Amino acid sequence: MSKYIVMGSQWGDEGKGKIVDNISQNMDLVVRFQGGANAGHTVIIEDKKYVLHLIPSGIISGKAKNIIGNGCVIDPITLAEEIEEMKNSGIKIQTNKFFISSGAHIVTPLHKILDNKLNKKIGTTSRGIGPAYMDKAQRSGIRMDSIVDGSFEKKFYEHLEYYKNIYSFIDETTINEIKNMLPNILESIKIIKPFITDTENIIYDSIQNNENILYEGAQGTLLDIDHGTYPFVTSSSTTIGGAFTGSGVFVEFDKRIGIMKSYTTRVGEGPFPTELHDEIGEKLRKNGNEFGATTGRPRRCGWLDLPLVKKAIMLNGFNYFVITKLSCLSGFDKIKVAIDYDKNNKPIYKEFEGWQKEVYGITDINELPKNCINYIEFIEKYLNVPIGIISTGPNRKHVIIKNNL
Ligand code: GDP
Ligand code: IMO
Ligand code: MG
Repeated sequence: MSKYIVMGSQWGDEGKGKIVDNISQNMDLVVRFQGGANAGHTVIIEDKKYVLHLIPSGIISGKAKNIIGNGCVIDPITLAEEIEEMKNSGIKIQTNKFFISSGAHIVTPLHKILDNKLNKKIGTTSRGIGPAYMDKAQRSGIRMDSIVDGSFEKKFYEHLEYYKNIYSFIDETTINEIKNMLPNILESIKIIKPFITDTENIIYDSIQNNENILYEGAQGTLLDIDHGTYPFVTSSSTTIGGAFTGSGVFVEFDKRIGIMKSYTTRVGEGPFPTELHDEIGEKLRKNGNEFGATTGRPRRCGWLDLPLVKKAIMLNGFNYFVITKLSCLSGFDKIKVAIDYDKNNKPIYKEFEGWQKEVYGITDINELPKNCINYIEFIEKYLNVPIGIISTGPNRKHVIIKNNL
């Protein structure tokens, strides 16, 4: 009986999807508890690639039940498309294996328009995430339960009316354009309706039955609405507290797994103290193929920032780490890691000798170059939390298990 939670320890895209897929082969239940289609989780098995935005990455293993919890915001059109895409890739999406919380909030086309108009300076994913959570907090949101009780259409029209009176850029033409999208939305709603239920009961029963449970975080610790680099954050609780409010159940997680890229990336605007604007940053981007899975934007790249990861430990109580994308550091003469900040808030670096050997796909720790081991061991000592899995490539099987979960 295992109860795990996987969360990003940086600014997202740490490789959560790959690890969730890997672990969920032994899980009975996988739960998403926050965020929406702003997430992009890539899973590669053999030569097949899956990119998930809303559906938990646990769906691919085929074994676990998968839940989108009440803390998530769902665009019905995107979700229906994702279900279709998964089915076309041979993944089964059945009503006894996939569930959507009746308390999750709906993202509308108007939310996306608002996102593009109001949130440019944050560099959001344009998926309507902020405005959907804004409606939730303002108590004017539309929830999944409206699809079940038949009140969705009425609430949708009220929602348009509400915003028409608030923002002058929401004019009659815009409103008519959105109204014209309603048939498409209703089609998508038909596809997702059979999956809507009170998901907290499923999670609770699973705990009572001593099943193996895995929570899948989206985004990263530093994008948390409260504890991230505000205002350059997303609009949900990406840290451990979000798991409880976002699923409706207290789970005593025995492994709180932090995913940490072996360097740092960030998409969108906001502070990034170890960012590299030179050819080294460019090389990291190239080696790591650092382009967003959701928007295709180039990710900003820089050295690993350990004080920030330490903050993520404080917030989430990580007791197990996975380090990813180590192969992308091969070929550098020197590798730097931020270990502190000076009085001007500039990072203080420790420099490591690089390694030239290709480590892509290695599954035996003894095959890693000495300098690579030194790097990992320093990080582990600094964080004072074991690094249990070393990920050496994007494929499900590209892992070194250093300490069993
Ligand atoms: P997530 O949002 O945390 O799930 O991460 P993404 O899937 O958005 O981004 C991580 C990217 O790195 C994806 O393209 C993965 O296929 C890839 N990836 C994950 N782990 C590794 C690794 O260890 N090495 C390499 N080279 N790529 C990896
Ligand atoms: P995964 O789950 C990386 C970033 C956006 C933007 C900020 C706010 O794949 O790790 P939003 O659309 O959420 O209002 O945008 O957050 N962002 C992500 N960056 N990975 C993600 O998800 C992200 N989800 C949002 O780029 O800077
Ligand atoms: Mg991602």
